[in-house]
Amino acid sequence: MFKLIQRALVVFATLSMIPLASASEMKSIAVESHAAPMQPIMIQGPMPIEAEYFASLLTDVRVEQAGNAKFYLGNLNGYPIVVAQTSKGLENTAAATAVGIERYRPRAIISQGTSGGHDTSLQVGDIVLGKRSVNSNNFKTPKLAAGEGSDPMNWIPMDIMASEESAGEGDAAVDAEKIRYYMGSSELLASAHAVKSTYTRGKVVEGTIGSGNFWNNEIDRMTWLHTNLGTSVEEMETSSAAMVSDAYGIPFLGVRVLSNNLTNNGKYDPSTAADCQKFVKEIVLHYISTL
Ligand code: 5AD
Repeated sequence: MFKLIQRALVVFATLSMIPLASASEMKSIAVESHAAPMQPIMIQGPMPIEAEYFASLLTDVRVEQAGNAKFYLGNLNGYPIVVAQTSKGLENTAAATAVGIERYRPRAIISQGTSGGHDTSLQVGDIVLGKRSVNSNNFKTPKLAAGEGSDPMNWIPMDIMASEESAGEGDAAVDAEKIRYYMGSSELLASAHAVKSTYTRGKVVEGTIGSGNFWNNEIDRMTWLHTNLGTSVEEMETSSAAMVSDAYGIPFLGVRVLSNNLTNNGKYDPSTAADCQKFVKEIVLHYISTL
């Protein structure tokens, strides 16, 4: 009996020393560790005609709504993309940009869509790459008394990020009397230049995108903005997305097609919106190839 127990113990001890690798009879599966996840690129467009074409290029799409923004999450050639339909205007765009950054952590953001020309040399269908963008609504007016009217050609630029003190009076307010430009990412601009020749509807130029909740139809006002702020085009989104992207430290570029240009009688043409998205696709594919 003692011998039996002793033998059983020896067998048990021997078995427990057999290394795992020799258990060749058992099925197994080796799960590899992952490569670092790819950070998505975010493409913004305000209205359905400025976002849906790009969204239609994506595979494996999932849609998420947040406030007035609609996010299409998918892939372009295997690379993750977020198309953000932001809704129009500065507030919607700022909110969509912040929510989109917090949720999806994009590695770069492109704000694209339509615009109106401030430059007579730009035709409907031409594209402006945002070398810089500027809020064209941020002004302080000189004092005028009751009955003296309003004089927009004398308004003074106001940098709302210049100071945390009063914006109305005093040294801090005077210090804030300047135009704030957000510069476009040099990497994204380089990708746009690299694929410029794929755009055949018009020319592609660098310029200044002016953003404000304003549709100007006064030629003198447009000329004033062109002369004093250097605007090539006006629209309602880019500078607010640039501001929020800057706050989060994310590379940013505005890309705007002219859908209208009153300064040279360029008639409104909504078909420009899809052509702009086709060009932005080329920018994105080039940018991805550099990563
Ligand atoms: N002025 C202002 N916004 C314009 N847009 C196109 N053209 C103009 C223009 N001339 C764009 C804005 C907004 C929508 C009204 O169209 O960015 O999203």
